Amino acid sequence: MRRTRISQFLRQTGWWRRSIHVCVVGSGPAGLYTTEKILKQHNGAIIDIVDRLPTPFGLVRTGVAPDHQETKIVINQFSRTASNERCSFFGNLSLGRDISLSELRDIYDIVVLAYGAESDRTLNIPGEDLPNIHSAREFVWWYNGHPDCSNMSPNIQSTDTAIILGQGNVALDIARILLRPTRELETTDMADYALEALHRSSIRKVLLIGRRGPAQAACTAKELREILSIKDLRVHIKKRDLLTSSADEEELNNDRRQRRVYELLAKASSSLHSVTSTQKELHFIFFRKPHQFLPSFDNRVRGVSFEKTCLAKDFESGKRFAVGTGQFEELDAGLVLKSIGYKSVSVPGLAFDKQRGVVPNIKGRVVKANSDQTVLENGLYVVGWLKRGPTGIIATNLYCAEETVESVLEDLEKGTERKRKQGRPGLVELLESRDIQYVTFMGWEKIDMKEKAEGIRRNRPRIKITEWGELLRVANE
Ligand SMILES: Cc1cc2nc3c(=O)[nH]c(=O)nc-3n(C[C@H](O)[C@H](O)[C@H](O)COP(=O)(O)OP(=O)(O)OC[C@H]3O[C@@H](n4cnc5c(N)ncnc54)[C@H](O)[C@@H]3O)c2cc1C
Ligand SMILES: NC(=O)c1ccc[n+]([C@@H]2O[C@H](COP(=O)([O-])OP(=O)(O)OC[C@H]3O[C@@H](n4cnc5c(N)ncnc54)[C@H](OP(=O)(O)O)[C@@H]3O)[C@@H](O)[C@H]2O)c1
Repeated sequence: MRRTRISQFLRQTGWWRRSIHVCVVGSGPAGLYTTEKILKQHNGAIIDIVDRLPTPFGLVRTGVAPDHQETKIVINQFSRTASNERCSFFGNLSLGRDISLSELRDIYDIVVLAYGAESDRTLNIPGEDLPNIHSAREFVWWYNGHPDCSNMSPNIQSTDTAIILGQGNVALDIARILLRPTRELETTDMADYALEALHRSSIRKVLLIGRRGPAQAACTAKELREILSIKDLRVHIKKRDLLTSSADEEELNNDRRQRRVYELLAKASSSLHSVTSTQKELHFIFFRKPHQFLPSFDNRVRGVSFEKTCLAKDFESGKRFAVGTGQFEELDAGLVLKSIGYKSVSVPGLAFDKQRGVVPNIKGRVVKANSDQTVLENGLYVVGWLKRGPTGIIATNLYCAEETVESVLEDLEKGTERKRKQGRPGLVELLESRDIQYVTFMGWEKIDMKEKAEGIRRNRPRIKITEWGELLRVANE
């Protein structure tokens, strides 16, 4: 009731009527960099940030590994943006479930979609649905306390081997979490239940499997160095996999970062280990593409059959890709994690490139559904992983936001978007009429304070609240 009165008051003020009303959907790096840039460059913009979670910051909270606390410092900058007086946060509000895209566009002059990539690439091979196979996204959400995965129980108690498909940085994060001594995770913000489960983990061996070779591994040197330096870890890389062809050498000569990764792998393969029976093992396995998942007698995953590969060149793109050789090999594991890339999802009324999993756009301007590249939506923009696909680090989204915001400001200058829509009061009214219990930034700050207070008591950065009910209860306390 109080909120409705505020909405009515706001609507009557001249300042409000002269403002540009912007809605940013998604409070990850892309959404918050976009918000920051619009606030800085347009002093008449009033911005509402919508997120389906009661907690902001996207993958910085639910993706970045718990043993990378320094990376999460960017949250301070994002918090300053979200608590700007011209900004409001509406958590626990899901586009496509609680509110439609057309409703948002009726309420706001400008809508910027920044809702990331919350699904997974799939392999489409037999056995993919067997129990104890998870996507990297689910496993990462589990150890980071995302409320959608806090009830998951990955099989780290009754098998000694985990297979990770893919060799990107996410795969390395997961391998590190499985292999790192758990006492080193005790000072992180990893979900409490995950820390407990990892204490009891029976996983001793992790197989990191790539469909191409060490000269094409998708990870970066810093992350590779970190996993290679885990104490008491035996690293296995077959010498013959490290042999390079002239095409590999050409690729490595053209890419210094890839060269560094290759050299680190080569060095790791030749370092001498003193072997003890308690040591954990990390195996880098190359030139294998998943062919089928193998079921156990009780219909759980017991391993993966791989086809050995060699590389061929796509002459159009110049990229080298894996082709099957017709030779197969089976590897056993009671846990399989598919780390082959995230994928965005669409919402009704939005153009979507299913193949690439992105919203078709020109410099962030969304292309109309069922049209060619020349017809653009008025006042609808996209940014971040939803715009470019699921690659790039946090800072990549800063440059991506710059491009989208430039398009927004150019269009505002031309005056094409100025329809004088209601903005925030319209949203609040609609949510109240639907009895939707949204979470404000102050609500998030209550969650934050409670998590940090519990963290101080237990000598950890925070103890995450991981259940939907508890998050909403604390936010509305
Ligand atoms: C496991 C992992 C670890 C990473 N570690 C690092 C790292 O250490 N360092 C680094 O620089 N980069 C790292 N990255 C990359 C970085 O996290 C991404 O570049 C960045 O988060 C992408 O930003 P985004 O805003 O597009 O998406 P996201 O961060 O995913 O944000 C999307 C937001 O949209 C919300 N949302 C989703 N659907 C809806 C909906 N329907 N309605 C409303 N809101 C919705 C989500 O809740 C989320 O808050 C990592 C990525 C992953 C996957
Ligand atoms: N610390 C950090 O900075 C950090 C941490 C985590 C993530 N990130 C970033 O987040 C982004 C996403 O990371 P990511 O690891 O999910 O993606 P990624 O870097 O694109 O790696 C995907 C991996 O999956 C493999 N793959 C894809 N499709 C496959 C298939 N059908 N069969 C078998 N293998 C397949 C790829 O092999 P091919 O190379 O052959 O395609 C590659 O090894 C990256 O930009 C990453 O740098 C950064």
